[in-house]
Amino acid sequence: MRTPLQHKLKEVQQQKRALLATNYYNFETLKGVLTAAKSANSPIILQLTESSIKYMGLENALEMGRTGLDYFGVEGWIHLDHGGSTALVKQCIKAGFDSVMFDGSELPLEENIRLTREVVQMAQSFNINVEAELGYVAKLGQSTEKTEYTTPEDAALFVNETGVNALAVAIGTAHGFYKKEPKLDFERLQEIAAATDVPLVLHGGSGVPAESVKKAVKAGICKVNVATEIKNIFMKTLQQLLKDNSEIDLRKVFPPATEAVKQLVESKLEIVI
Ligand code: 13P
Repeated sequence: MRTPLQHKLKEVQQQKRALLATNYYNFETLKGVLTAAKSANSPIILQLTESSIKYMGLENALEMGRTGLDYFGVEGWIHLDHGGSTALVKQCIKAGFDSVMFDGSELPLEENIRLTREVVQMAQSFNINVEAELGYVAKLGQSTEKTEYTTPEDAALFVNETGVNALAVAIGTAHGFYKKEPKLDFERLQEIAAATDVPLVLHGGSGVPAESVKKAVKAGICKVNVATEIKNIFMKTLQQLLKDNSEIDLRKVFPPATEAVKQLVESKLEIVI
């Protein structure tokens, strides 16, 4: 029996550690992530975005992750990353996800609370984890100039009103690569952690220096999300390999890219373990 993710997050919270959450896009990126988790003997959260679900098909994407965890013998959970509508979130809950994120961060606070509460109520009967987001963590293509950091007061109110299991906070990270090194607001993070007992989530993990991630974990982050660096290393490795290369056996071309993902994820696991 798999430990429900909400319990595992509480466990790592007490140990001042974090779980790594990585996105997968196809079999090769999934294999890279899972072989890394296996070799590090570490649990892992496997994340699917709406685009990846559309690309692979919901049941197929879920089963790929599930079968992969069993096949490679890794403790892990399948999580919906940035569910933008309650309809998608509910579809994933019913399909058998272990965890869902409802992202109402761009909605007015009251609306975010109302919809998150609705998701929490549904998820409770399936005993699955619910993550939500408060504040502005720029998504790919959004301005990183705008800052709307999570306040401890809003975080406490939001958690009390919704009963959410995990909260993604805005403390200076953004999705995608950074133009300059991100400066995280550790003081704010500590205040949020003191104001609420819910495990906190760091989005936009790609490009955040290892030392900052470690500091964030000590200050209350229990889940660290990494996506862009995985896509990047996979595609950059392939692009390099395919330069002046007429190989058509894809089984010979993909393995070095999969191996590059493995090495990347191993290095990320070392930071949070
Ligand atoms: P990056 O793509 O910046 O690593 O962010 C990942 C993430 O937070 C997914 O929700």
